[in-house]
Amino acid sequence: MPARTVIVSGGAGGVGLAITQRFASEGHRVFVVEREAVRAHLDPHLSDRISFVAADVTDEASVVAAMGQVQQATGRLDVLVNVVGGYAAGQPISELAAATWDHMMNLNLRSAFLMAKHAVPPMIAHDWGRIINFSARAARDTAANAGAYAVSKAGVLALTEVQAKEVLAHNITVNAVLPSIVDTAANRTAMPDADFAHWPKAEEIAGVVAFLASEAAGLISGAGIPVYGRG
Ligand SMILES: NC(=O)c1ccc[n+]([C@@H]2O[C@H](COP(=O)([O-])OP(=O)(O)OC[C@H]3O[C@@H](n4cnc5c(N)ncnc54)[C@H](OP(=O)(O)O)[C@@H]3O)[C@@H](O)[C@H]2O)c1
Repeated sequence: MPARTVIVSGGAGGVGLAITQRFASEGHRVFVVEREAVRAHLDPHLSDRISFVAADVTDEASVVAAMGQVQQATGRLDVLVNVVGGYAAGQPISELAAATWDHMMNLNLRSAFLMAKHAVPPMIAHDWGRIINFSARAARDTAANAGAYAVSKAGVLALTEVQAKEVLAHNITVNAVLPSIVDTAANRTAMPDADFAHWPKAEEIAGVVAFLASEAAGLISGAGIPVYGRG
């Protein structure tokens, strides 16, 4: 595959960093979009292929500015990986604060929508593109007391399916991965007694994302792909 311009939103996080480093290790130019331009714990051999762009991906003006920076740097956008997202749970719908609902919709769904919206025009300009969204197993296997999370991640699946149909004619694919639980530092801290050996590694999730971004995956679009492993 030729060197691509790749945006990874949340690309310094628990899962995102592995995706950032995977694309950089394959020779691609990676732009990590995070709220703060952190340099994370990057492999020094890869750091010249990785740039940080500070943006709030729930804010449209901020997204437009970030996309503009990437366009200015390379003149194109080939791959967008929407990793930004988060989890909130603990109340049934009857007790759920509207603020928690809004937070989940903004962080998980609005973020993916805004990034995907503004990624498409530069992809159409080169008649090729790949968008990979992060949904979650909870979108399909819903759990009580995690309604806002489940609905927001189900929304990401619907967004994926709709946009896949809209951009098919431009050689742009749109897919989603559905992690169950990933072996991240944050999850180990939150669940210290769990059996980490069965949790998929962030690098394994990154491998699936890299495949979806490849030429070989060009026939796959509109899919919601479980990446549960044995987790
Ligand atoms: N980890 C799991 O077990 C698991 C399971 C199912 C689904 N997922 C999904 O997988 C994705 C990655 O999860 P993760 O564990 O890697 O999460 P994470 O470690 O929290 O990473 C998310 C990254 O996005 C950044 N971010 C948050 N809000 C942002 C905003 N408005 N603008 C720009 N950047 C923002 C965060 O930075 P800050 O530090 O500034 O917040 C963080 O670096 C998420 O969509 C999550 O819902 C994860």
